[in-house]
Amino acid sequence: MGAGHGGYARRAADAGWTVTAVDARDDRFPDDSRITWIKQDVREFDLTGFDLVLCLGLWYHLTVDDQMSLLTKMARNGSPVVIDTHVATDNPTFKLSDPVVQNGYTGRLYNEKGWKTRLTASWNNTESFWPAEDEFYRMLAEHGFPVVFAATPWVTRDRTFFLCAPGPQQESTGE
Ligand SMILES: C[S@@+](CC[C@H](N)C(=O)[O-])C[C@H]1O[C@@H](n2cnc3c(N)ncnc32)[C@H](O)[C@@H]1O
Repeated sequence: MGAGHGGYARRAADAGWTVTAVDARDDRFPDDSRITWIKQDVREFDLTGFDLVLCLGLWYHLTVDDQMSLLTKMARNGSPVVIDTHVATDNPTFKLSDPVVQNGYTGRLYNEKGWKTRLTASWNNTESFWPAEDEFYRMLAEHGFPVVFAATPWVTRDRTFFLCAPGPQQESTGE
């Protein structure tokens, strides 16, 4: 999701995965016929049936509402998810707002005003939400991902890869 240049999608295909790559912009999709390239807003994309969802470099371009509804969709699909994102810290290296609370989560806002001309930016939202790290864990747990493993590669010290395992699915009682 948010495949952009498609580098991660191609590496997954190299590793033998059957890959669908989604991005609202297709300008940077490479010519690689092993992959199904889909130009679509991730907020509208149907995640049903995927064994693994990779959301790399996209999360910090979404609003808190989008983040919550995507997590709900991901949890319903029931597969693990990898989210690679910045989180808001006390001393942000990017220009962010002062701390805010949105939908009960503390974080900072990133200004996406140039989104129409930047290929790596948000799609159709002028502000995005960067949760504080502990708040991100809470958001994950409260939306069906109680078990999370985090890794911060030394080459991308300001980004963390969160491997999120879904919790047990709620049984429908029919009531
Ligand atoms: C920072 S780039 C990340 C590209 C690549 N995944 C990486 O990690 O290097 C963010 C990508 O997300 C895409 N994007 C942002 N908001 C989106 C949305 N709502 N739906 C689909 N794609 C979106 C942008 O078009 C852009 O290609």
